[in-house]
Amino acid sequence: MAVEKIKKIAVIGAGSMGHGIAQSALLAGLRVYLYDNDKSNLQMGTNKIHAGLDKMASKGQISENDAQEFKNNLSPTTNLEEAVSNVDFVFEAVPEVLEIKQDVFQQLDELTSKDVILATNTSNMFISSIAERARCKERIVGLHFFIPVVLMKIVEVISGKDTSKETMQTAYDLCVKLNKIPVRVEKDSPGFIVNRINGPVRVYLGAVVDEEIAEPEEIDALMRYHGLPIGHFELSDYIGLDVVNFSAQYRKKVLHPDYAPNKKLLEKLEAKQFGKKTGKGYYDWSNGKPSIDIAKRTDKIKIEDLEIVKFNEAAKLIEDEIADPQDIDTAMVLGTGYKAGPIEYVSKLDLNEVIDRLEYLSTRFNKEILKPANILRKNPDVVFQSVKNI
Ligand SMILES: NC(=O)c1ccc[n+]([C@@H]2O[C@H](COP(=O)([O-])OP(=O)(O)OC[C@H]3O[C@@H](n4cnc5c(N)ncnc54)[C@H](O)[C@@H]3O)[C@@H](O)[C@H]2O)c1
Repeated sequence: MAVEKIKKIAVIGAGSMGHGIAQSALLAGLRVYLYDNDKSNLQMGTNKIHAGLDKMASKGQISENDAQEFKNNLSPTTNLEEAVSNVDFVFEAVPEVLEIKQDVFQQLDELTSKDVILATNTSNMFISSIAERARCKERIVGLHFFIPVVLMKIVEVISGKDTSKETMQTAYDLCVKLNKIPVRVEKDSPGFIVNRINGPVRVYLGAVVDEEIAEPEEIDALMRYHGLPIGHFELSDYIGLDVVNFSAQYRKKVLHPDYAPNKKLLEKLEAKQFGKKTGKGYYDWSNGKPSIDIAKRTDKIKIEDLEIVKFNEAAKLIEDEIADPQDIDTAMVLGTGYKAGPIEYVSKLDLNEVIDRLEYLSTRFNKEILKPANILRKNPDVVFQSVKNI
């Protein structure tokens, strides 16, 4: 289906992501059916959308009339059939549990006509696994939005094993219509671009903390000192250490054992310290956001190493033809708030020294995933092509 024909959409799951996707679609002039199997969560999601639209009106970003019209275009429901039987596109944003998602997609497959595209907002999982129980797999695609959805421009558009080219293109075009900047992930791969590239950084910093080379706060202070928008451990607390653990376990299973959660993370989980949501994680959140003292920054690790580690994972995505360099840097800048992507950053360094450093880190911390990607020795020009094109 061409994007011009998409007028009505459904969002499945009215939580943190679902209500944001619904609001973005309303702002693009679409009719939105919002479904949740929990009545109070549906009400909460609806209230958040109304409050979000009111706030935009009070700031003059939209007119009062538009805010009202968008609210009129929203139909919350706890009846799945009612939500999806008459729409052109469906966004799924239910919890990150494979069984739940497979079940939802099986039902969506049965309840919608074959030209309706079905998109999952999974943060990690193979699109093909989520589509496993559906008969019509070519219309299932990944659309990974970032939180808060209304403000974050980036969306990763992910092809599953069976996703058709037409489905990819329409999903991409719909993101543009929602005023987003989509990037293409051409092959099904866990964590896609941003989460995948940040994964080895967690492994590296986890080893640094476990070996007591530096404390989480000292590392975050170093990152803040260098102007980065947030420290690694602050961000982990903000996301939730249970969620971080889920990603670690999933990647350990499907990518490499090195992704296993580190000792310190396991200790936090054992103590039920999940970060902001429980008031304690790496930091104490009971009095609000932790304040990081940059004077405490560590001199035991190099800030450059974090970029080198990300760059190496980016190179692997390019080598495996999962994403192209330009899209990788775009996704990393828009998804993480850094000023430059890892490819642009490393393009200013000596590549031989970068390769030597990766060899050193891999050996020093006994992590195979930190070994330099083959493409860095064989065909580095392919990795740096986007930087040359700028
Ligand atoms: N929160 C984030 O930062 C973030 C960012 C990107 C992607 N994601 C992904 O988005 C998805 C949703 O995450 P979230 O943070 O919005 O979760 P959430 O817990 O805030 O919301 C999930 C909603 O789904 C509802 N739900 C549960 N089972 C359902 C079912 N069978 N049918 C319909 N509704 C059902 C729940 O009642 C809840 O309202 C996950 O896959 C997550 O990995 C989350």
